[in-house]
Amino acid sequence: MKHDRIAVVDFGGQYAHLIATKVRRLKVLAEIRQPEDPIGMFEGYRGIILSGSPALSSHGEEQDYNKAIYDLDVPMIGFCFGHQEIAKHYGGEVVNAGQEWGPADLKIIGDSPIFDGLGPTERVWMSHNDTVASLGPDFVELGYTALGAGGREHRFAAIGSDKLRRYGFQFHPEVDDTVHGDRMIANFVLGICGCRPSWTMDAYLRQQEEKVRRQVGDRSVFLLASGGVDSTVAARVLQRALGPERLHLLHVDNGLMRKDESRKVLDLFRQWGLGEGLHFVDATGDFLSALEGVVEPERKRAVIGATFIEVFEREASRLGIEGHLLGQGTIYPDTIETGGTKRADTIKTHHNRVPVIERMIAEGRVVEPLADLYKVEVRELGEMLGIPREAIWRHPFPGPGLGVRLLCSDGEAVGDLSGISAAAASIGDRYDLDTAVLPIRSVGVKADLRSYEHPVLLSGEADWDRLVEAAGTIFKEVTGVNRAIWNLGPGSPTAFRTLAATMTRDRLDLLREADHMVMEGLKRHGLYDAIWQCPTAMVPLEVDGHGREFVIVRPIHSERAMTATPASLPPALLDELRREILALDGISGLALDLTTKPPGTIEWE
Ligand code: XMP
Repeated sequence: MKHDRIAVVDFGGQYAHLIATKVRRLKVLAEIRQPEDPIGMFEGYRGIILSGSPALSSHGEEQDYNKAIYDLDVPMIGFCFGHQEIAKHYGGEVVNAGQEWGPADLKIIGDSPIFDGLGPTERVWMSHNDTVASLGPDFVELGYTALGAGGREHRFAAIGSDKLRRYGFQFHPEVDDTVHGDRMIANFVLGICGCRPSWTMDAYLRQQEEKVRRQVGDRSVFLLASGGVDSTVAARVLQRALGPERLHLLHVDNGLMRKDESRKVLDLFRQWGLGEGLHFVDATGDFLSALEGVVEPERKRAVIGATFIEVFEREASRLGIEGHLLGQGTIYPDTIETGGTKRADTIKTHHNRVPVIERMIAEGRVVEPLADLYKVEVRELGEMLGIPREAIWRHPFPGPGLGVRLLCSDGEAVGDLSGISAAAASIGDRYDLDTAVLPIRSVGVKADLRSYEHPVLLSGEADWDRLVEAAGTIFKEVTGVNRAIWNLGPGSPTAFRTLAATMTRDRLDLLREADHMVMEGLKRHGLYDAIWQCPTAMVPLEVDGHGREFVIVRPIHSERAMTATPASLPPALLDELRREILALDGISGLALDLTTKPPGTIEWE
């Protein structure tokens, strides 16, 4: 059965994913499309949603998208920027005025199907600089907002043309603060577009199984199985589709895994009935020699991705597995974030999207049964397939593993940091905290672009909210900084020296120990499930003449990994981590990350 689909055009940022998630909850498949995609890629959808954007419609920003979408005879709705673009396209005017932030009351006019079952006043959520000031001939106003009794009215908060089946909301129905936003999205998707709600996990599973059987034919699949939730669920789907004889699993110890991880993963695979066709190779030597001398983060990712494939091909031929396809547990954001958008492309390359794999995909040699799903959907599918809870709720761990989290350096001094240091210090003074700009850089994401900038180390006592606020102020006011971390070591260190260091077994072992202490600590304090992910990173940094490795712990809350907020840890756990990690040989310091995403990413690299 073919499912009805909705295209969500991503004009920039995480809201597009939120819209897609809300549509999928209605059991209708939503797919992210890029504004510049050729018109052929919009065929077959039953409706199109234009997302918001940081760009200004009034200034004509983001103008070079594919306007041919307006000629398609399917319903279309825009939110915020998308709303303004629709208004403009059909002869209306957009001005840089009428800003609203946060809650507003929408007064609904008339009885358009888009507001079926709603009204007359709805609480909505606003965040905009531009406003629609007039409408083209086919459009009518469907709602305006006002804040409180007698508050200023903002016209054209909702507009539409039932004849053209075009609609626009200045507010964001996709955020939970728009109280009946889900109903508005349902009115569009199920009502106006007439989508059938058939996209259930059960239906998805049956469809994927069929698709896998068609693609694979009488060949077999060799799946790279890390033990993470994605590859484990992918293994189970492939096993159901092909039977155990035609599925081979390869677990590679790339030397970048956590402490004892490979042993545990192999045990678990056997327990879960995935033991048949399970192969293991310790390729630590291959990975470490390929990484020798490599410092730059993107280069590390490329080397790790390529080495996976080399090891994989070698093992396939050693085991006599021929004519096989490569199986991967790739999920939707991996595709979207790496290859799918022009902007995000520059942030980082996911290990399952390096060039050699892209080539294999083009040749039809890669099977990815989860490539349409978000993590939360993979977990739902995993539960349906009876995969044990502990596997489903493991913290995400990146394919390149500790290879990402172990920062390397050529030891060369970075330029003059005095300007950044002075700016950071003046904010530190406001919060009664000492500051130091560290002479290292890590990857972050700012306004959808990759950044490679310095962290600021804050030393001193303050409660958690104040620390996070100080970090936020630094991000707002100091350029050249993409992270702020809180010193857990003694005093306020002042002298830092970057040391030359690459990916060595000793350094990896040290990071493995520190990471193990953090993971065990979270479990001991019953926090493992409450925290979405908690990378531990290590950078080659001498502090006040001591040690050679600085450790950063990064507990975060997140939903879809597109954004993240730092999570606090209880003082007792911090004390234990101080005691344990600072006592490891060669450790120069320890800090807790206070950085949101953006401007940092979840991983340090
Ligand atoms: P960032 O660091 O981009 O990470 O904020 C977002 C999420 O993606 C995970 N991650 C990866 N997962 N292969 C993966 O399978 C990768 O190459 C990769 N890089 C980052 C990261 O752990 C976080 O959950």
